[in-house]
Amino acid sequence: MKFNVKITSQASEEKGNLLVCGIYQENEKNPSRCFDNLNSSMKSFITGIISRGDFKGIVGNSLIIYPKGEIGFDKLLLVGMGKKEELNAEKIRQVASVSLKAVKRINLKSFSTLLFGIERNDLQLSNIVEAMIEGFELTDYRFTDFITEKKDEIKKIDEITLIHDEKEDEIRSAVKMGKIMADATVLARNMGNWPANIGTPTKIASVAEELARTHDQLECEVFSQPELEQMNFGSFLSVARGSNEPCKFIVIKYEPSSSAKQTIVLIGKGITFDSGGISLKTPNKMWEMKMDMSGAAAVIGAIKGVSELQLPLRVIGLIPATENLPGGISPNKPGDIITSLSGKTIEIINTDAEGRLILVDAITHAAKYKPDIVIDIATLTGACMVALGSFASGIFSDDDELVAELVEAGKQIHERLWRLPVWEEYEKGMESEIADVKNLGERMGGASYAAAFLKHFTTKDYRWAHVDIAPTMLSEKESHYVPKGATGVGVRLFLQFLRNRSKIEE
Ligand code: BES
Ligand code: ZN
Ligand code: ZN
Repeated sequence: MKFNVKITSQASEEKGNLLVCGIYQENEKNPSRCFDNLNSSMKSFITGIISRGDFKGIVGNSLIIYPKGEIGFDKLLLVGMGKKEELNAEKIRQVASVSLKAVKRINLKSFSTLLFGIERNDLQLSNIVEAMIEGFELTDYRFTDFITEKKDEIKKIDEITLIHDEKEDEIRSAVKMGKIMADATVLARNMGNWPANIGTPTKIASVAEELARTHDQLECEVFSQPELEQMNFGSFLSVARGSNEPCKFIVIKYEPSSSAKQTIVLIGKGITFDSGGISLKTPNKMWEMKMDMSGAAAVIGAIKGVSELQLPLRVIGLIPATENLPGGISPNKPGDIITSLSGKTIEIINTDAEGRLILVDAITHAAKYKPDIVIDIATLTGACMVALGSFASGIFSDDDELVAELVEAGKQIHERLWRLPVWEEYEKGMESEIADVKNLGERMGGASYAAAFLKHFTTKDYRWAHVDIAPTMLSEKESHYVPKGATGVGVRLFLQFLRNRSKIEE
């Protein structure tokens, strides 16, 4: 999708096929700048439509009207923006989404739009534009990798022109930012939607390698099974041995051009299919477990974004990638005791609690980079879904400030995080009588027990947080700019968090 920026003080005199105009719920009291931009006869026409009750400016509403030569555009699309005082970045994404869908319904490939919400002094122009771009790009997304027939019937928007009367440079740079955030999310969505026979660990590694080839400041190193045996990744390999599909441990590093003051390690769970292993899952919805690598996708997407945003931080992505199957040469069996990279022994109680097994070796390996912060992201527990439904991911950490930063980033980009505890009691609950730890705690509070298992493998040398995206990896039904399927959750969260962090450092 191409974005043009047009600076003019006479928007309605521009020529084009369709102009989007945002309207507040109480248009008489709160006319938008979009509305004010129109000439007086268009304004009274729209006021008439509103007063007859044919259009209400609530978010979700849209109406096409035909200006018949009153303005330079063939069509005018009115879109509701809700109450002026309630408009925020998320509503702007939603309004952008509603607009794009309305344009697609009438088969147009391009349109123009005035900027939404610029009359609100507390909303920054750059935030408004970024939110609009995210809303447009993420709404236009469809997973088409495997559609061979009727592909040309899939409607796509080619070009959008943003019209405003000033600050061209600020708008252009916000367009760039928004596109980077959205494109990185699209990569993660595609990876999440890939079926497991295509999105293998090898394929994930090749995505990371390709990124490193095309992005100057990225470097990628991929370790395969024999090397990992040598390196003693015992916990990760215990899972990988259940499948004949080769496992990979992927390291993808971003080194900024100026010297970095902080190093942040992001670890993503990369189970490309989770059958449960010997503790086999029931068939119902098992196909969804092709998305059990959504943490890996979030990390790869975030690293792509970080390098394009050129953030002044060293960011290292670690991805243990494997299938969790009950086959291979020697799958984990309940009761087995394995030795992790850290040297700690683990009693396997349930082979379906595999995410934590692959993550702990990555956590141990992370120390090698002397990180300031380590954050892991994983589709870790059904229990987290039970706790939160589908509206938030779980965040677990003892570090109040780190939690606050992540929660704030989540609010900004509307990937909400909700804190759940990871207290000592949960850690105690993960101790084994015959090994150092066991991989299963209580059923009740399962998300916190899983987090506590990970915590056993962290050290005080860095700050650590765990994000459980099991609740949010998948959207069951389309909602505004989040279509059905893989959501790409975590990418914008990490990018926003890292952008905020790089400002703290300045
Ligand atoms: N990948 C699953 C968790 C999951 C479930 C993610 C549903 C997304 C949607 C994880 O590996 C798993 O199987 N967890 C078990 C843990 C249990 C055995 C302690 C679970 O949640 O049931
Ligand atoms: Zn599992
Ligand atoms: Zn899993």
